[in-house]
Amino acid sequence: MEITKDVHYVGVNDRRTTQFEGLWPLPYGVSYNSYLVVGTEKVALIDTVEVCYCEAYLKKIRAVLGDRKIDYLVINHMEPDHSGSLPFILSHYPDITFVGNKKTFEMIDGFYGTGGNRHLVAEGDTLDLGGHTLNFYLIPMVHWPETMVTYDATTSTLFAGDAFGCFGALNGGCVDKDINTDIYWDEMRRYYSNIVGKYGAPVQRALKKLGGLELKHICSTHGPVWVENVPRVIDIYDRLSRYEAEEGVVVAYGTMYGNTEAVAEVIAEELCKQGIKNVVLHDVSRTHHSFIISDIFKYKGLIVGSCTYNTQLFPEMEALLSKIAARDMKDRYIGYFGSYTWASAAYKKLGEYVNTLNFEVIGDAIEMKQTLNASTEDAARAMARAMAEKLKSERK
Ligand code: FEO
Repeated sequence: MEITKDVHYVGVNDRRTTQFEGLWPLPYGVSYNSYLVVGTEKVALIDTVEVCYCEAYLKKIRAVLGDRKIDYLVINHMEPDHSGSLPFILSHYPDITFVGNKKTFEMIDGFYGTGGNRHLVAEGDTLDLGGHTLNFYLIPMVHWPETMVTYDATTSTLFAGDAFGCFGALNGGCVDKDINTDIYWDEMRRYYSNIVGKYGAPVQRALKKLGGLELKHICSTHGPVWVENVPRVIDIYDRLSRYEAEEGVVVAYGTMYGNTEAVAEVIAEELCKQGIKNVVLHDVSRTHHSFIISDIFKYKGLIVGSCTYNTQLFPEMEALLSKIAARDMKDRYIGYFGSYTWASAAYKKLGEYVNTLNFEVIGDAIEMKQTLNASTEDAARAMARAMAEKLKSERK
């Protein structure tokens, strides 16, 4: 598939892996994108694919190049979903030269201990292929330290690594203007929030660094090639990395028998009554946390509730809170409620967790013993009203 003159898509689709990075469900699969830039003098391959798909990958490369050799393998990112086929490519193209920065080569040594010719690049370096000159920009911690991007000024194409990527295998075509992109938008936010979400500041630095480039094609390592949606995907990454959020509330709760859930239902009902339309309830035992994290990136308000379990927080709630904390999120409003039957713990531990987050606590936290009564219901409605008022005060 030729994306633009001399730039070809040679990536593969993975509809078999159930959990990306061993953690994140893939309801629509995922693609591992790789590209060929065919110059008049030299050929460059940009990134590789997950090693399980190396045979199909080689066929795609050969369909473009025939017997012509590949001169360079540009390694924008060393995570094994992209570097995994590196030894395989070297075995088929033994004269190939790896192109990477200092940290790239340290990781190649560590992961693969492989030889191969090497061409070290630094910020702003270029590589002439004949008719196409590749420009290299380092974007460390988006989302690994060695990460860089490669820009072909001739075609205004950015080979972006994971940046601007999303979950979801490609269904027939690879360029956004040729396919229905509906499934990719929520999956872009879920991808960003779970994989890249901790690194908002490095993403902002990268966006500023790349801001002056003309971008006609963004070729990420996952998901569609962006052509007609270039401004939209840049805007999404900009907003997410600034932790900007929409009006709305995620109510996430851990419940064993439904008593804690009943508080969540009251809060949601009152939020809706107060005019907050975007209210999403998640049972933390049922909804995979990647979807909850994605919604927390989307909405400004969060209310968490947990029953007490073995004199601790409900385990799935503790797991969710640790994922939220690990992402260094900010500029959110939070409320919380805990429950117990015979030994109070969840309320206190939720408070301890919440104090470690960079969120503003809204309303009075609630502790419930055993089941919902009139006073707990009043407190739940008061918390919902406080959250709704805070959100509505920010309407423009
Ligand atoms: Fe798709 Fe960070 O690897």
